[in-house]
Amino acid sequence: MMISPDIKSEVRDRNDIVDIISSYVHLKRHGNNYTGLCPFHNEKTPSFSVNQRDQYFYCFGCHAGGDVFTFLQKYENMTFPEALKFLADRAGITLPEVEMTEEMKRNLSRKNQIYDALKAAENFFYQQLRSERGELGKKYFASRQLTEETLHKFHLGYSLQYSDALVNYLRKKGFSDDIILDAGLAGFSERDGLYDKFTNRVMFPIYDQAGKVIGFGGRVMGDAKPKYLNSPETAFFEKRKNLYGLQLARSSKAKQFILCEGYMDVISMHQAGFTQAIASLGTSFTPEQAMLLKRFDRDIYLAYDSDGAGTEAALRAIGILRQTGMVARVISMQPYKDPDEFIKNLGAEEYQKRIDEAENGFLFEIRILRRDYRIDDPAEKTKFETEVAKKLCVFSEELERENYLNAVAEQYGIPKDSLKKRVISEAARGGLKTAQERVQIRPANAEKKSSAEEHAKYAQRLLLTWLNEDKSCFARVREYISAEDFTDPLYRKIAERMFADLEAGVFRPVEIIGMFDEVEDQEAASEVFQTKLATEVAKEDKEKALRDIVLRVKQESFDRLSGSLGSDVSALNRVVEGKHILEKLRRIERI
Ligand code: GTP
Ligand code: MN
Repeated sequence: MMISPDIKSEVRDRNDIVDIISSYVHLKRHGNNYTGLCPFHNEKTPSFSVNQRDQYFYCFGCHAGGDVFTFLQKYENMTFPEALKFLADRAGITLPEVEMTEEMKRNLSRKNQIYDALKAAENFFYQQLRSERGELGKKYFASRQLTEETLHKFHLGYSLQYSDALVNYLRKKGFSDDIILDAGLAGFSERDGLYDKFTNRVMFPIYDQAGKVIGFGGRVMGDAKPKYLNSPETAFFEKRKNLYGLQLARSSKAKQFILCEGYMDVISMHQAGFTQAIASLGTSFTPEQAMLLKRFDRDIYLAYDSDGAGTEAALRAIGILRQTGMVARVISMQPYKDPDEFIKNLGAEEYQKRIDEAENGFLFEIRILRRDYRIDDPAEKTKFETEVAKKLCVFSEELERENYLNAVAEQYGIPKDSLKKRVISEAARGGLKTAQERVQIRPANAEKKSSAEEHAKYAQRLLLTWLNEDKSCFARVREYISAEDFTDPLYRKIAERMFADLEAGVFRPVEIIGMFDEVEDQEAASEVFQTKLATEVAKEDKEKALRDIVLRVKQESFDRLSGSLGSDVSALNRVVEGKHILEKLRRIERI
């Protein structure tokens, strides 16, 4: 497609990048700059910045950046022409017809027709529920105590018993069979041709967050299976990227979203006044949904069923939310199963109390974990406390970790100091979670790193930092570790120079940083000397921790070397020697 630079500039000039981005990302102003949480990678503190004067964005965390077109291309997965068209429409600029190729026009019109077909189906189901033939559906909703207002608000409907009612309706409206199929509204058989996908079910239209119909859930009115039938997954209907009720819940004034398990839960919550309720679409909660919610800058309260499966699902969701940097809380529905039942039995006021008393997600995890141990048995108690310490390591920020540590220590009567020590030794063993280890959903242009590799690099970095801070342990470390044990090429270079300088007694970090020509390498070298071991470590623990770190680095290097062993004799010697060293390291507690 030929786009004249003038048109592109005009469209860009008429769409302020801050306006566009702030409809997706919560931005705060600092002079010319706006900052917020980057939508292209997971983070807890904002490194995403939008420059209003120069009309571009940049993320200091994942290095995503560009202009307003780039943003939409990356964020909405639009092609450039689509972004151009979107922004031109938004600014009321008519693009010259010749700008679009035939193929683009076809695709665009196809997409629109599919959305139109979904919209028409929504109306059809809605009308049927209100017609004589929809009596069954009406009765069903009445039995679930839904009001007319609620039926309308969620545009609930009914699909008829005949297997071609919707197909015929859509054909009459001029939709082609292809479009009807691609919208997920019909199936195809050799004998009958197109047939309605949904028959004799009450219908729940599903919307994207902007309020466009993208699919349906249909529920049987009795006990038949499957209970729910959902539209098939298509490019228009991506279950893992959308949430039921979000188009309504996003404008609720509540400080949180309440994540439920089922469509019916969402509906009865809204009817009871809890318009912040949402649910995933028949699948478990996904990282993509977490990222979507993150833009709204609210906490997430879980209202999952109080049975075993619900608890499992809640634990999974809590993990995902934490990795996305969000706070999760868990609402107790006891003695009822789900919000729908709870509200029917105890009412909205009681439910509000449960919201106010919701349990912190981490404490919920610990409470569930606790069930697996018999605390009156000292061995079990130790195991439990070790698991707790491991879990505390997920908090990479000290203050946050301290707060959780204190809360858990208090709740379970574990002495704070001993728990803290355990956390430190667990941290040295596994490494505290770093930003890079968090789930990457859209790895933007930042390189993807495997987390095992990150773990190994973390230990190597930690060792270098340690040597810098406490040069007196170099002699001891030197017994086990050589520069060759650093598997990361950059770290190995640093170690070579550092070890030589330390031996000569002339080591200074700034010299090492200065060795590199590229800014990137300089940055990485600076980072090496800033890796923090989670907490201040007491002296004797410190020696144990150092031994753990040395062991990790050695093990990694050993695994790598023995894995790539060929006929090289000197490498073989190193492997044999490495094996001895590892055995020795495993025997001793400190070095
Ligand atoms: P009610 O049983 O009518 O109260 O519905 P509910 O929405 O509370 O459903 P439930 O708690 O049983 O299940 C939670 C969610 O899982 C539902 O809203 C659906 O999204 C999904 N689900 C349940 N059953 C099925 C099924 O048979 N097939 C599919 N695809 N999804 C289902
Ligand atoms: Mn239910």
